[in-house]
Amino acid sequence: MRVLLALLVVTLAPAALAADPDAGLELARKACAFCHVVEDGGRGSDAVPTFRSIAREAGDDIGALRSFTVSPHPQMPQFADLSEQQIENLIAYLKRLQE
Ligand code: HEC
Repeated sequence: MRVLLALLVVTLAPAALAADPDAGLELARKACAFCHVVEDGGRGSDAVPTFRSIAREAGDDIGALRSFTVSPHPQMPQFADLSEQQIENLIAYLKRLQE
């Protein structure tokens, strides 16, 4: 039984953690597009940085945005209810915007 469980963990873990930029975009459309322009041609507030500019400015340090995304911010609602997977997906989407 223990071996079976270990096998399950090994086979399921990588798949569960694989970041999916398309899912990130989906989530951004729902959770972030109220304020941010999350894709070209998208709607958002002029006062809020677009996802493309966020991605560009972050450069190689895009992983650092993770803390910004999960921590409270005066003008930004708190996203503590985002799962680890959802955050990975959002970051994967931001990375894709850099290409
Ligand atoms: C209620 C409006 C609002 C929503 C919804 C919102 N944001 Fe923001 N966000 C802002 C504002 C305003 C700023 C700029 C804050 C600043 O420059 O001080 C910001 C800044 C950011 C930054 C940092 C940009 C930088 O300069 O480092 C990130 C990353 C970010 N938002 C991600 C997200 C993500 C991911 C979502 C969706 C899960 C989201 N935001 C939803 C208003 C919002």
